[in-house]
Amino acid sequence: MSSSDKIVLVNDERFRQELSKYTEKAEEYFILADTNTTKHCFPVVMSAAPGIDPGRLITVDAGEEGKNISTLHHIWSTLLHDGAGKNTLLLNLGGGMISDIGGFAAATYKRGIPYLNIPTSLLGMVDAAIGGKTAINIGGIKNQAGTFWRAEAVIIYPPFLASLDEDELLSGKAEMLKTAIVADRPLFDELSVMKQDIPSGDMIKRTAMIKNNIVMQDLYDRAERQCLNYGHSIGHALEALCQLRGKAVKHGLAVAAGILCEAYIATKMNILQDPAFRIIEKYINATFPPLHLMKEDIKDMLLLVGHDKKNYGGAIRMSLPSGLGKCTFGIAVEDTLISESLEYYATCQPSP
Ligand SMILES: NC(=O)c1ccc[n+]([C@@H]2O[C@H](COP(=O)([O-])OP(=O)(O)OC[C@H]3O[C@@H](n4cnc5c(N)ncnc54)[C@H](O)[C@@H]3O)[C@@H](O)[C@H]2O)c1
Repeated sequence: MSSSDKIVLVNDERFRQELSKYTEKAEEYFILADTNTTKHCFPVVMSAAPGIDPGRLITVDAGEEGKNISTLHHIWSTLLHDGAGKNTLLLNLGGGMISDIGGFAAATYKRGIPYLNIPTSLLGMVDAAIGGKTAINIGGIKNQAGTFWRAEAVIIYPPFLASLDEDELLSGKAEMLKTAIVADRPLFDELSVMKQDIPSGDMIKRTAMIKNNIVMQDLYDRAERQCLNYGHSIGHALEALCQLRGKAVKHGLAVAAGILCEAYIATKMNILQDPAFRIIEKYINATFPPLHLMKEDIKDMLLLVGHDKKNYGGAIRMSLPSGLGKCTFGIAVEDTLISESLEYYATCQPSP
């Protein structure tokens, strides 16, 4: 079992203390943000830690399209040009795009520098910032190059969520739902009755800790951690398909669709009982907007699902729920069943 990420849920005062602790200790630091988090979150950081030097801010374009080799190259070159050394600390201030690419930059710059994740999206707080998986996309295909490189700490400051738009909050909720379905029935029950758009700090931390516990059992994603990929074999393919067609969708919204299709597959394979499937189906249909998928898209979707990193032995492998709060992984799934699940999704969803 590996050690756990240091995850701290902070209020205003503690945020100040944690920021100063890391920036004062570091020989040098840089802050990586995207255009949105530079606008909405960097001023919050500046007021919490007035000593922060705005000259140390590296801003990249916001959005998944920027999670690529040219942005990574830009981050490396800026660090090099501005004299970052082996002990420079990188502060990733943003959602999952920033923690993925910033983590990868930190893992590879001078063969590895320390970094801190300060997630600003719900998805980042409950999922992406935790567990040391870093990545960039190649040719629009998700997370094809990356490393495992763990953050010094993950600082969760929920007030950042005030500037996040509704779709982004929903996107984070999809990852909370995934974590609940694969590992924690009580969390699922709480999510099902949650009325407010922004979950409480306690619920955010609890979801983050569930992920953290799974990561501790299997840092390198060889076994149990694969459960966290539930919904992502089809979700990533949908995200890539939409992006390739110039109609990008939020990661979590694609994952919500993936959760439903993969629950369908689990039920057809007698891994998940029909009543549990119906509960998931009802929750997803009531909570997430439908994505537009046509029957003609299914061939391309199968090709994209084929790129998934969990595949091996010539088969498409999925992590599938075996109940609410339970999961299996490494399950070989036939192309025909994947097509059937996509057809089910394409026909059962109302037109957006
Ligand atoms: N490494 C992992 O374990 C892991 C797990 C899940 C997802 N991911 C990755 O995370 C990414 C998705 O994360 P995301 O949804 O956070 O994407 P994101 O980082 O692109 O953020 C979504 C949008 O919200 C904006 N934003 C973020 N915080 C904001 C704030 N406080 N106020 C206003 N705007 C804000 C961003 O600028 C962006 O436009 C994907 O690349 C996915 O592959 C990684």
